[in-house]
Amino acid sequence: MCGIVGCILNDKKAAPVLLECVKRLEYRGYDSVGIATPYNEIELKKDKGKIDDVDQKLNLGDIPGNMGIAHVRWATHGIPTRENSHPHNDCKNRISVVHNGIIENYKELKDELIREGHLFKSETDTEVIPHLIERYMDEGHDLEESVRKATNDLQGSFALAVFSLDEPGKIIGILKDSPLIAGKNESEYFLASDVPAILKQTNNIIYLKDGEMVILDEKEGVVVKDVEGNVVEKEVHIIDWTPEMAEKGGYDHFMLKEIHEQPKAVRDTLMGAEEIKKVVKEIKSIKRICFVACGTSYHASLIGKYLFESLMDIPIDVVLASEFEYSANTLNQETLVILITQSGETADTLKSLRIANKKSKTLAIVNVLGSRATREADHVIYTHAGPEIGVAATKTYVSQLACIYLLAIYMSKKEELLERLNQIPEEMEKILKKEDQIISIAHKYKDVQDFFFIGRGFSYPTAMEGALKLKEITYIHAEGYAAGELKHGPLALIDDEVPVVAVVPPGKSHDKTLSNVEEVRARGAHVIGVGSKKDDVLRSETVDLIGLDDEIDEMFSAIPYIVPLQLLSYHISVAKGIDPDKPKNLAKCVTVE
Ligand code: AGP
Repeated sequence: MCGIVGCILNDKKAAPVLLECVKRLEYRGYDSVGIATPYNEIELKKDKGKIDDVDQKLNLGDIPGNMGIAHVRWATHGIPTRENSHPHNDCKNRISVVHNGIIENYKELKDELIREGHLFKSETDTEVIPHLIERYMDEGHDLEESVRKATNDLQGSFALAVFSLDEPGKIIGILKDSPLIAGKNESEYFLASDVPAILKQTNNIIYLKDGEMVILDEKEGVVVKDVEGNVVEKEVHIIDWTPEMAEKGGYDHFMLKEIHEQPKAVRDTLMGAEEIKKVVKEIKSIKRICFVACGTSYHASLIGKYLFESLMDIPIDVVLASEFEYSANTLNQETLVILITQSGETADTLKSLRIANKKSKTLAIVNVLGSRATREADHVIYTHAGPEIGVAATKTYVSQLACIYLLAIYMSKKEELLERLNQIPEEMEKILKKEDQIISIAHKYKDVQDFFFIGRGFSYPTAMEGALKLKEITYIHAEGYAAGELKHGPLALIDDEVPVVAVVPPGKSHDKTLSNVEEVRARGAHVIGVGSKKDDVLRSETVDLIGLDDEIDEMFSAIPYIVPLQLLSYHISVAKGIDPDKPKNLAKCVTVE
């Protein structure tokens, strides 16, 4: 994962700006942070830990020089230590590199370089890169050529930013299977892993393709070259997200802000109906749909299955992206593979997209403009959630669902359902007003060790998503289960120490789920019911009821019903003293397989 930034500024110090930018990338990893600038020698400050902690210790902004590179790390090779933190330098300390990605052949390269006499200081895969560049510069190649040659030696994925004391005023970026964008103002030049990182500095963005090299040059500005080294003219996109859209806006955490932004995110996404109608016209001859996604986006896909199968006579598969390559044999041109990914950069999903592109039609549902999935899929639909910073997906999930509902409604020609869909944001607003009650429930249950989340039909993926949120940000073990499946095994785990969250909207599955609620209560379980406030079983004394409106029927429950579950996880997380925006071991965008 990791996040990288590089910049050349006109006449001000680069380190404070790099620090500010890298803080906006902290969702990509927070095992360590580092900044390097070329001055008389390479000025370098780095250490393990979260950015604020390292900054307090080292004063990261206090480094001379008007240009430099920075990094936040999500460890893959080598535990978080100062030595393993980026930037990494060559033997002579004349070249400095930050890297996002994984170098698969680093062991062979490292052995080879050690035999040539290179000295390594870390256990990282990345450190081979400055040494390879050093090797080629020692052979007489310039920095650009040396970076090109070094990256030709690498197998795996990378986005790099590199500078050398031997070629002052220049930062080189290059990418393969990891995201990298560039940005520029009149006389200030940037590169970064994503747009929000540099949005405060510039909204003029250049999207880069695999193999392209971007050169930030004090004199020549931003130059992009293709794999052969020819200059390519790139379009400069003006991004209309404001930096405030990517900041906390008075909330304690991004996650809470993003939960509260959900009615707007759904409204904005529903306003994209025309865009979806256009795609539906283009994909007429489809006889089968296969959804592919990871994590929360996978849960959105499962809702898609229930929805499409309720509205249309068409087979729907849902495959985890990390499993897709093992099950993609039956794809054909009459299959539409729908890839759902908020970031558009998830490695497993991108790999599936490339497999699917060869055999079938592909549609990507994505939140991040210009991300890789949007450039590689046959068709693209954007969710209009705005930037999501919290690691736990919330507003992007409900926006994905809004897209799926629109798509299913237009594909099945059941436009009469649009009126119902358009009421959802208002229903979500009403649920958000129940936050105080959810806070009390969160305090009551914050110390338990295990949770079950149960639901049937549309509510089964909602239960899975509720359990995922709880696991991610509270570190409590939770399982999302089909309510009817409990009796086939997991019921053995239920007792008065294992609370059960039951998702019970009015509709076809309602009565049977209530029977399952009775089963767990009979085994001593405390129940948190999310359902109609008029339900007698849920109003019983041993149930903590988050009572919602009767009008939210099963088919349209997926979007509003996830809101109380997100709030429950958020408030348990805060009550336990965890930072929900930065859960341990996780990163916002998973760019490794
Ligand atoms: C969600 O809370 C998680 N952070 C994670 O499961 C996420 O949904 C998954 O990694 C997929 O990400 P994507 O939508 O960007 O592809």
